[in-house]
Amino acid sequence: MTQHPRIEIRSLTEDDLEFIRVLRNANRQWFLNSEPISSAAHRRWYRKIASDRNVVFYVLWIAGRRAGTFSLTNRGDVVVVGNLLLARPYQGTGLMTAALRQMIEPNRTYRAEIKPDNGRSVSLFARLGFRPSQVVMTRSASSTPPVGSRGCPALAAMRSEHGGSI
Ligand SMILES: CC(C)(COP(=O)(O)OP(=O)(O)OC[C@H]1O[C@@H](n2cnc3c(N)ncnc32)[C@H](O)[C@@H]1OP(=O)(O)O)[C@@H](O)C(=O)NCCC(=O)NCCS
Repeated sequence: MTQHPRIEIRSLTEDDLEFIRVLRNANRQWFLNSEPISSAAHRRWYRKIASDRNVVFYVLWIAGRRAGTFSLTNRGDVVVVGNLLLARPYQGTGLMTAALRQMIEPNRTYRAEIKPDNGRSVSLFARLGFRPSQVVMTRSASSTPPVGSRGCPALAAMRSEHGGSI
């Protein structure tokens, strides 16, 4: 197995933005928001998170090269691990496992939200001691409703209350 004695974990700077944007767009199918991100939107996002003390974005460096990223978001009782990305050459080398092992504190609770078909991510978090704790079910808007379905009565009531604007 490949070892990573020279991982450096640095906080995100403005110089890292394009690296992250390109990597994120190349892997967007794995993210809950899978829309492509423009440079302008990415800069707006950066200005927002740079002033948010609850989110820290990290960049992984190996031998002077950017290799990937992840973020930790403090939600009070839980820390959310997110935005995991590794550049292709570093995937399957144990780099992300080693990086998160360095960052995870034994006395804190962590959470990750993963698409169920993201096997790499699921096995990464399992390796780090995460266990499934909830099931979120979604019915895509593109699904055809069953014949005769009248939809959700509560939603219909809310719609009529709001003049059909929701
Ligand atoms: C998710 C992602 C970050 C996980 O990366 P990864 O390469 O699987 O994670 P690691 O760097 O820890 O590598 C672990 C793999 O390398 C292998 N490995 C090799 N050397 C290793 C070492 N020294 N230590 C641990 N694992 C090692 C492991 O066996 C493991 O492979 P396996 O899962 O097939 O068993 C990466 O796949 C990625 O960037 N995916 C695209 C974006 C994405 O899906 N993001 C997550 C959204 S929730």
